[in-house]
Amino acid sequence: MKAYNWGILGTGNIAHKFARALMLLDNAHLYAVGSRDAARAEQFAAEFGFTKHFGSYEEMLADPGVEVVYISSPHTHHLEHTMLALRNGKHVICEKPMSVTSMEVSRMIDEARKNNLFLMEALWPPFQPSYLKADEILKGGKMGRLHHMRGKFAFVSPYDPELRTYNLALGGGALLDIGIYPVMDILRYMGEPESVTATSVLAPTGADESTAMIFRFSDGRMAEAYCSFGNMGGVCTEFNCENGNLILTRGRDRNQHLIIELPGDTDDRIFTPPAQGYQYEAAEVMNCLDHGLTESPVVPLSFSLTLARILDEVRVKAGIKYPGRDR
Ligand SMILES: NC(=O)c1ccc[n+]([C@@H]2O[C@H](COP(=O)([O-])OP(=O)(O)OC[C@H]3O[C@@H](n4cnc5c(N)ncnc54)[C@H](OP(=O)(O)O)[C@@H]3O)[C@@H](O)[C@H]2O)c1
Repeated sequence: MKAYNWGILGTGNIAHKFARALMLLDNAHLYAVGSRDAARAEQFAAEFGFTKHFGSYEEMLADPGVEVVYISSPHTHHLEHTMLALRNGKHVICEKPMSVTSMEVSRMIDEARKNNLFLMEALWPPFQPSYLKADEILKGGKMGRLHHMRGKFAFVSPYDPELRTYNLALGGGALLDIGIYPVMDILRYMGEPESVTATSVLAPTGADESTAMIFRFSDGRMAEAYCSFGNMGGVCTEFNCENGNLILTRGRDRNQHLIIELPGDTDDRIFTPPAQGYQYEAAEVMNCLDHGLTESPVVPLSFSLTLARILDEVRVKAGIKYPGRDR
């Protein structure tokens, strides 16, 4: 089995979780970490056992040993950092949202293709055991036709204009940070909507504190998505089918639950992947590289582009603006 030299760009919250997950994979070599701050890079490297640490992203990306890079900077920096990695000949998995606008996502895809390098958006759910089980049940036909979906992602992030969640310069706002998940679920299971209705409540910085969306499909089906930094609504996607319902949720216990509701019968299945399941997307990257693929069949680049286009449309309808980044 070929082992891949990983580089991690950025040392924030999600980079810690991803590094912990990488440690579970035999074919992942924790090779390098790059930070804007040399001491932070050194500390991160020591915590997880990376071979090398760099006090700048440029230096890390110039290291010929780095083969695949995980981009974990704020959304507004994904374009710059992904381009930098690709131009240095590295394969990339970039945190969600892939970028702030679909135009930017399109540029990233073009650059990856031009260089014949792998690129994937780090969309975590499709690789989780609860989602794989839901896929199997939906495909099995027992639930009947999927008629409606409702997804929400909400938690309390107290208002602070400097925080990544509210600071527009760091891509602040609930839609791009957490609303992307219910929207992604709806697109994956119901396809591209014919029309989108959306409204937001904006924080004083202009970042959306809450956004509600309704999607209508050409065959008459509908779906709703909601995200907020203002309440403890939690994470839940409901699939309403002709014969019953599936409910995917993350409990207060942080476990993944798949609740299967059929007439007279309710089954709550609980999944507790180690490292919160972040290793599966990294394993997918290496599996694709093993097979000479430059994109993942599970999260293809066309999906990331469609997702970004729908998020553009929601933003326009709801009046969410990122200065200097129209589309
Ligand atoms: N997949 C998931 O479940 C998940 C969960 C949380 C977040 N995310 C995504 O991951 C990305 C980062 O989120 P996070 O919560 O990890 O954020 P965070 O804790 O603020 O970390 C972001 C890191 O990016 C680097 N960075 C580069 N330029 C920066 C700048 N101008 N300002 C601040 N930091 C900068 C910093 O690392 P250095 O200082 O070391 O350079 C910082 O530690 C976001 O795009 C978010 O959507 C995904």
